[in-house]
Amino acid sequence: GRPLVVAIDGPSGSGKSSVSKEVARRLRLAYLDTGAMYRAVAWDCLEQGLDLADGAAVEAAARGLDLELSTSPDVERVLVRGPHGMTDVTAAIREPRISAAVSAVATNLGVRDELIRRQRAIVAAHGRRMVVEGRDITTVVARDAEVRILLTASEEARLRRRGAQLGGTQSAEQLHEQVVARDAKDSTVASFTQAADGVFTVDSSDLDFDQTIDAVLGVVHAAV
Ligand code: C5P
Repeated sequence: GRPLVVAIDGPSGSGKSSVSKEVARRLRLAYLDTGAMYRAVAWDCLEQGLDLADGAAVEAAARGLDLELSTSPDVERVLVRGPHGMTDVTAAIREPRISAAVSAVATNLGVRDELIRRQRAIVAAHGRRMVVEGRDITTVVARDAEVRILLTASEEARLRRRGAQLGGTQSAEQLHEQVVARDAKDSTVASFTQAADGVFTVDSSDLDFDQTIDAVLGVVHAAV
């Protein structure tokens, strides 16, 4: 088929991942979760016991990371190859300790350079038929995407969704740290709070899941 890159950015708790996966299924496109790549680097740094403030060491970890991730919207799998073989980190990268560490890794410009390069290569390897989600996809990784969407939601809606996603196990302070404080840190290197020129905003605050899918598919069909 002809190229169709759907770039979706948004803050944490915007519903980006579940929406992006469903859009990929509906359009029969591959799916790339770029946040999982930053999380895998953070996991590896913690595994190696690196000081996250040591920028050169963190960058070297990213450049050397042997990472394999599923690009099917139906299979969530992230593997890291280490000295003792492959480790399945699919569940581990979602732990709060990773969410707490990931911004320190993602604000390292060497790490970003490496992951952006890999993300572009993955999009190319899929014949440019892919839904790609993250924080800098519409502005950096796939500025040339056929469709670019910023998926937003009010802070209240995002806190509620992330809380439900984590099974109601987190305190209000923990949720605030994982959603609002993380976005504030991430905003220093990627701009995802306002849509760049040519990027469509879908505000999901008052939409349920199906309505959000319909809104995103509406933008796709209007654009291509
Ligand atoms: O989307 P998710 O919450 O899994 O992303 C984890 C982290 O990865 C973000 O908090 C951000 O620090 C980083 N990230 C990024 N650029 C992207 C995707 C994620 O900096 N394109």
